[in-house]
Amino acid sequence: MKEKVESLKAQIEEFKGKTSVAVEEFRLKYISKKGALSELFEDLKTIPVEQKKLAGQMLNELKKLAEARFNELQQALETSSQTIAFDDDLTLPTIPNKTGSQHPLNLTRYRIIEIFERLGFNVEDGPEIENDWHNFTALNFPENHPAREMQDTFFVEKPVRVDGGNPDVLLRTHTSNVQIRLMKNRKPPFRAIMPGRVYRNEAISARAHCFFHQVEGLYVDKNVGFSDLKQTLYHFAKEMFGKDTKIRLRPSFFPFTEPSAEIDISCLICHGKGCNVCKYSGWVEIAGSGMVHPNVLRNCGIDPEEYTGFAFGMGIERITMLRYSINDLRLFSENDIRFLKQFKPVI
Ligand code: DAH
Repeated sequence: MKEKVESLKAQIEEFKGKTSVAVEEFRLKYISKKGALSELFEDLKTIPVEQKKLAGQMLNELKKLAEARFNELQQALETSSQTIAFDDDLTLPTIPNKTGSQHPLNLTRYRIIEIFERLGFNVEDGPEIENDWHNFTALNFPENHPAREMQDTFFVEKPVRVDGGNPDVLLRTHTSNVQIRLMKNRKPPFRAIMPGRVYRNEAISARAHCFFHQVEGLYVDKNVGFSDLKQTLYHFAKEMFGKDTKIRLRPSFFPFTEPSAEIDISCLICHGKGCNVCKYSGWVEIAGSGMVHPNVLRNCGIDPEEYTGFAFGMGIERITMLRYSINDLRLFSENDIRFLKQFKPVI
């Protein structure tokens, strides 16, 4: 017994563990109910009575020693964890939480929606993978007509034709497909804008990309006239670009509108004096527009004798570039944080 006590005493005094795991090990090994000390106290029962008193004293001393050592180890542990905390240099600047910012194209999209919502337009949505009918045929693009070539299409599928219809599946080349889906599925009147991404097989440059964004607009009701189109877009231009903005309508051609017009705004940069943004003309194109072609209404089951309407389509990139004086379209999709962080944060 004496030897055991001596050896345990030495072990306890020399114990060096500093981690919380080691301290717990110490407790289990020596002072817990199943530890070495309890075992010795059990042995005490078998010792002859004359020696019991002395052995008991020895054991009690050892127990005190073990408990004191345990407290010591625990305290050391606590102070060491505090020391680690104070090792941090509290004078260093903090690492700031980075707040993300809104993409400039979204800022423009939200602004466009805001302006048109106040005029009573709803926001509508449609698929980016579209069939030929919704993207071309219903919009009065004649089969094999050069008008189809206006938009370099990415085809997803070009199945063999069986019954005269055109079964092609493609990435939509414009948001005008949503006009068709809306008119086909619901009853007039309609007053909606339709923002979304579109795709064209174009070489990527500062001025063109193979995907970009448009907002389509459609207003169909009884007695909608060209003056409504003009006034709506004039109101939009003033809200979007400032009250002094002027608009100009240039005759144009789209298969789905008749008459058709290109909408220009007075150049924001040079105010008409001429600069390289407006190519020294004083005007910048922002949208295509026109009165919805009777064939388009008919294709969607709407009687053109009863209803008329106007439509327009504008590029979100183009408007954003004008708003923020951005000169390269590629910046929008490169995900360069140095560019993106300049826009309004999301809070
Ligand atoms: N879809 C045309 C394009 O992408 C833009 C457009 C022009 C849309 C006239 C319209 C419109 O709704 O009326 O080039």
